[in-house]
Amino acid sequence: MNESTTFLITGACGMLGRAMTGLLGTQTTALTFADLDITNYAAVAAALNRYRPTTLINCAAATDVDRCETDHAYADAGNTTGPRALAEACAAHKVEMVHVSTDFVFDGATEVPYTEKDEPRPVNYYGLSKLRGEEAVRELMPQALVVRTSWTYGPVGLAGTNFPLKVLEWARRPGPLRVATDQFGSPTYAPHLAAGILELLEMNATGLFHLAGDGCASRWEVAHETLATARTVTADPAAFRLADIDFTVPILPAAAIDFPAPAPRPAFSCLDCGKAARLGVTLPPWQIGLALYITGLLRKHDSAVDIWDRHLPAGCAPTQSKFAAGPGETKGTTA
Ligand SMILES: NC(=O)c1ccc[n+]([C@@H]2O[C@H](COP(=O)([O-])OP(=O)(O)OC[C@H]3O[C@@H](n4cnc5c(N)ncnc54)[C@H](OP(=O)(O)O)[C@@H]3O)[C@@H](O)[C@H]2O)c1
Repeated sequence: MNESTTFLITGACGMLGRAMTGLLGTQTTALTFADLDITNYAAVAAALNRYRPTTLINCAAATDVDRCETDHAYADAGNTTGPRALAEACAAHKVEMVHVSTDFVFDGATEVPYTEKDEPRPVNYYGLSKLRGEEAVRELMPQALVVRTSWTYGPVGLAGTNFPLKVLEWARRPGPLRVATDQFGSPTYAPHLAAGILELLEMNATGLFHLAGDGCASRWEVAHETLATARTVTADPAAFRLADIDFTVPILPAAAIDFPAPAPRPAFSCLDCGKAARLGVTLPPWQIGLALYITGLLRKHDSAVDIWDRHLPAGCAPTQSKFAAGPGETKGTTA
């Protein structure tokens, strides 16, 4: 990777797409789902011909895990057919390719973070479709960089959400929160992941890598850290304070089984990122990423929302903090 490297981003309106586009600025062409459906072979080839990137970073995927469980066509398209089409086109056009995959390729029947050598055994259709996608990429383009990550959060559009945003939203409702203490992952801030992927490219890394926020946490710990950060941030007059949010709300321990969902989740999907670390690439601890994200959402000035919207890929809905003032709320009061 050098100054003449030019990037093409797919799935540019997603969390990683926004983060990656924000980092790369003018070095990139950012294509949204509306601009390029990655399952359309002819359109993918046409895009490579038109933009002539040196490197394609696939940030597109079908990430609604519960929908994937029942709508296999949706899962197969975004997670298997699309990556295969991209890999075929990149191989034909001699374009370097980065593909992103998931911790959900693992079954979670362990308490030791997964390495790249561990055998994938998905427990849901999302994980299976992602595994098939990464296998297709590695078969068609053995020199591609395939990065598995975990529990991602970061800038989302108006209709989007992620786990920390959900926790802040739950804190608006009356009564205590109940969050699973028996589900573990490696929470990953999308802008940190984007930076880590670029560092791997700089090292000319190829093949399979795990890359996630440093550490391993339960859903309960992430919820606890989210509200603790929100409490600290909103004590500062430079932060938004919304009358209807109680960041001191208790978070009661619960079991994942208490929250039935169409798709089962692995109980433990923390990633061992030692292979990337040996190349000198490590993401910050997950608590740091979370603090940056929550602080950015809740501060009045230099908020993450402002920063990410400055680099918003064309055609994406504005990045939304659900905590910007809504009906009946006072933005920026110190009450
Ligand atoms: N989010 C997580 O917790 C997590 C965890 C582990 C791994 N990952 C992986 O990380 C990568 C980035 O995900 P993310 O978190 O940024 O997800 P995201 O926010 O859902 O972004 C994915 C984007 O891809 C778009 N897309 C879906 N199908 C497409 C298609 N056929 N052609 C073009 N674009 C398409 C989506 O559009 P629509 O929204 O309109 O469908 C969305 O804008 C994915 O490979 C994902 O599997 C994510």
